[in-house]
Amino acid sequence: MDNSTYTQDPTELEHAFDSLVDSLAEKGYAIMDNIMSEEECAEVRAIIDRHEENGRLKKAGIGTGHDYQIDRSIRGDLIRWIEPEQVAPVTQAYLAKLQQMMGYINRTLYLSLKDSELHYTVYPPGKFYQRHLDQLRLNDHRRLSVICYLNDDWLPEHGGELRLYLPEKGGGERIKDVLPVAGRLICFRSDLLEHEVLPAIRHRYSITGWLLDQLAELTHL
Ligand code: OGA
Ligand code: MN
Repeated sequence: MDNSTYTQDPTELEHAFDSLVDSLAEKGYAIMDNIMSEEECAEVRAIIDRHEENGRLKKAGIGTGHDYQIDRSIRGDLIRWIEPEQVAPVTQAYLAKLQQMMGYINRTLYLSLKDSELHYTVYPPGKFYQRHLDQLRLNDHRRLSVICYLNDDWLPEHGGELRLYLPEKGGGERIKDVLPVAGRLICFRSDLLEHEVLPAIRHRYSITGWLLDQLAELTHL
């Protein structure tokens, strides 16, 4: 795929999904660059900033239901859940691409992904998320974690890598670090891949989400 332009043309998008699905099947994760343009990323960052100024971001928690707790020694990000009915056009465009991606994955990997849940995310400098798995319980419906990063001019010295711990066949594991650069999407198996977010020296923005094998409203019962 051409890394310099962003992916908008539907046929080009399908090609990108093709590589994504291959990589997912083979390695349990996939990276796709330029799913959003720099301008779109800037727009979403501004939306997140506005939410922060208006006190509409909240400290993210861990666990669900009775286990829910906020523990800043485990994760330090601020989030706002996205309600698909009332989002800005720029977010809507991203949701539409995810929808298309979900359909493509279902057709090619025979999954039955049905819905998604997403939040805007910002990690203030120095904040992190310790090593964890996104699928916490056996009845969790999160199948794939999908994160799109929104940060312009992100350099390795800024930190903030997503660190994936990839299980190796003979036991042991291998580390794969991913920089949170603008327009980059990472998708990985929620039930399989442990990962962490390393602290950064800048604000680290993203849209974080999960593709579910059940309707989102049914998973929160
Ligand atoms: C999460 C998470 C990774 C990232 O929110 O569960 O692991 O790179 N995020 O932001
Ligand atoms: Mn996670």
